[in-house]
Amino acid sequence: MSEAVVEARAVRKAFGRTEALRGTSLAVEEGEVVAVTGPSGSGKSTLLLCLAGVLRPEAGEVWYDARKLSDLSENDRTRLRRREFGLVLQFGQLVPELTAVQNVALPLLLEKHDRRAATTMATGWLERLGALDVADALPGEMSGGEGQRVAIARALVTGPRVIFADEPTGALDTVSGEHVLAALLTTARESGATVVMVTHDNRVAASADREVVIRDGVVELTPVIS
Ligand SMILES: Nc1ncnc2c1ncn2[C@@H]1O[C@H](COP(=O)(O)OP(=O)(O)O)[C@@H](O)[C@H]1O
Ligand SMILES: [Mg+2]
Repeated sequence: MSEAVVEARAVRKAFGRTEALRGTSLAVEEGEVVAVTGPSGSGKSTLLLCLAGVLRPEAGEVWYDARKLSDLSENDRTRLRRREFGLVLQFGQLVPELTAVQNVALPLLLEKHDRRAATTMATGWLERLGALDVADALPGEMSGGEGQRVAIARALVTGPRVIFADEPTGALDTVSGEHVLAALLTTARESGATVVMVTHDNRVAASADREVVIRDGVVELTPVIS
């Protein structure tokens, strides 16, 4: 059996009296593309954020390789996220004051890359994602699809080992959603990155190696798709 790269073990997370995750377990193998589906409010985003070390569960464990996230300091988890993870949220979350190329270069600058090299890499990623046209535009000047491509470029620019994406195409129309998703998956498969993506879209789920369905904060048993 291969080792999981990220794993949630019996994770519980509540917001006030709402139990978002009620003992949820999920193990994702290196290089696997997993789609997390399920009804609205079932705990998909909460699980993703717990796996990515953004939210801290109340009980249970989250592992990254041999490291238990709860044993790491806030600083170490932040560093881990920056170096090893790429996070794409539903509405891009770009810095509004920065152009596309500056947004994409930001994670590299935070890791002390030289500005010129960071800009070159950022431009290259915008090109790969078909967003070179908006390189010098501010997020407010972009369409939803363009913004999402830029957000994906920013998540990929550091060469993350694990990509977490929360409904990366949820805010887009079908055609641009398919393009954005294809770009994300092609890149991930080329680099051997592991992908955990939340989606509502059956076609998106069908392009994954495995679909995991969450209902009421627990993972349903599903047959393996291969
Ligand atoms: N920050 C939060 N504050 C309060 N309740 C939250 C918060 N995040 C999620 N919830 C609640 O937790 C449950 C699971 O939410 P979520 O993980 O966002 O579900 P999904 O992504 O499947 O739609 C829902 O009932 C939601 O309202
Ligand atoms: Mg959600």
